[in-house]
Amino acid sequence: MPRRIVLAYSGGLDTSVAIRWLAERYDAEVVTLTADLGQGRDVGEVGARACRIGAVAAEVVDAREMFVRHFVFPALQAGALYEGQYPLATALARPLIAYLLVETARKHGAEAVAHGCTGKGNDQVRFDLAVQTLDPRLGVVAPIREWSMTRDQEIAYAAEHGIEVPVTTAKPYSVDANLWGRSIESGVLEDPALEPPEDVYEWTAPVEQTPSNPTVIRVGFEGGVPVSLDGERVNGVTLIERLNALAGRYGVGRIDHVENRLVGIKSREIYEAPAGTVLHQAHAALETLTLTRDAARFKQAASAEYADLIYNGKWFSALHQDLMAFIRSNQRHVTGEVSIKLHRGTSRVIGRTSPMSLYSRALATYDTGDAFDHSAAVGFIRLYGLGMVQQARVQSLPLVQDLPRLGGGERPEGRES
Ligand code: ARG
Repeated sequence: MPRRIVLAYSGGLDTSVAIRWLAERYDAEVVTLTADLGQGRDVGEVGARACRIGAVAAEVVDAREMFVRHFVFPALQAGALYEGQYPLATALARPLIAYLLVETARKHGAEAVAHGCTGKGNDQVRFDLAVQTLDPRLGVVAPIREWSMTRDQEIAYAAEHGIEVPVTTAKPYSVDANLWGRSIESGVLEDPALEPPEDVYEWTAPVEQTPSNPTVIRVGFEGGVPVSLDGERVNGVTLIERLNALAGRYGVGRIDHVENRLVGIKSREIYEAPAGTVLHQAHAALETLTLTRDAARFKQAASAEYADLIYNGKWFSALHQDLMAFIRSNQRHVTGEVSIKLHRGTSRVIGRTSPMSLYSRALATYDTGDAFDHSAAVGFIRLYGLGMVQQARVQSLPLVQDLPRLGGGERPEGRES
C-alpha cells in the first residue's frame, strides 16, 4: 500500500507541481484539499485540475461561512491588526486550512499532510504548528521547502510531467487572497522605497478613477459582530463581499506595510482589504460609545496580544482560548450602528449610535440642560493630584530645573536636589 498524503492545493504552479513531486518522492497517493475562502477562483475547476494532474481524490470545501464566523469576526471583535496595520487575512486562513487538512487526512486515512509554503515565510510556521497541535501523529511535508527548484525549473518539471501549468499572468508577484483581504509581495515591491505599480492592485480603484461624489454606508453590529448594511440584515459572507466591492470602488483599503515576519525578516507587503478597513474602523468607533475607559484601555493590550498570536501561528493555543473569553465578554454591549463616508480612497467615520451607548449628552453639554456637577471637580482634582503635589513640595520639582527663567523673583521650588 502506498502511503497517502493530503496536499493543500490552490491550483497554482507550486502546488500543481507538488502533486506529482509528492507522488514520486514519497511513493504516495496524493489527495488534494481546496478550500473556497472567497479567493475568487473556481474551486470546482481547481479540484478537477488536481485529478487531471494525478491526485487520487480532490476534496473541495466551501469554507467561507466557517472562515468568517470562527476566524474573521473574532479577529474583528478583538481589533486584531498586526503592527497596527495588517488585518491578517492570510494569517487567519492558515489555521482553518490546517484544520481542514487534518479532517481530510482522517477521512482518507492519510498519514501526512502537505502545504506549498516556502522556508522563508510565516505561513509554514502557521501550518506546521496548527497541524502538529491538532494531530501530532500526522507528518507535515512542505515540498517547496524541500526541493530547490527555481520557477523556471518548476515550469520545466511541469512540461516534462505533462502537468498543465495554470495560466500564468505576466505579473511577477506572489499573491494570496481570501474574503478578508489580498496580499501581494515580491518583484518590484521588494524595494520599500518605490511606490507599488498600479498593477499590483485588483480589488481597489486608483484614486483618480473613484467616483467624484462621496457615499455614506451604515454598518450595524451586535456584540461586536457586523450584522447589517444600510439597515438590511445580511450574513457575514455577503456583508464582506459587498463591502469589498463597494469600498474597493472608492479606492479604500490599500495598505503598504513593511512588516516584521516571525522568522526575523522584514518584508514589504501590499494588502488590499476594503471590507476589513471599513469594518475595523466602524467597529472601533462603536467601541468608543459602548466601552468604559477602563475596558477600552485594557482591550488595547488584548488586541495587540491577539494580533500577534494570530500572526505568529498560535491560533490553537490555550492563550487564545483565554483571550477569546475576555474578548467575547468585553464585546457584549458593542451593539449599534456606524456611518462611514467613502470618498477618493478614504473612509471616515461620521456618526455612531447605540442602544448601549455610555455617551450622555446631559453630562457632556456646554449648553442648557447640563447635569454635570461642576462643584465636584474641585474636590476631585485635590484628591486626584494629592500625591503629585506632595511629592513636588517635599522632593525636587520634576523637570522644571531645565526650563529658562523669565521673571526675576523666587521660584516656589520644593527642596533643591
Ligand atoms: N505577510 C502576510 C502574512 O504573513 C502574507 C503572506 C502571504 N502572502 C503571499 N503573497 N504569499 O500573513
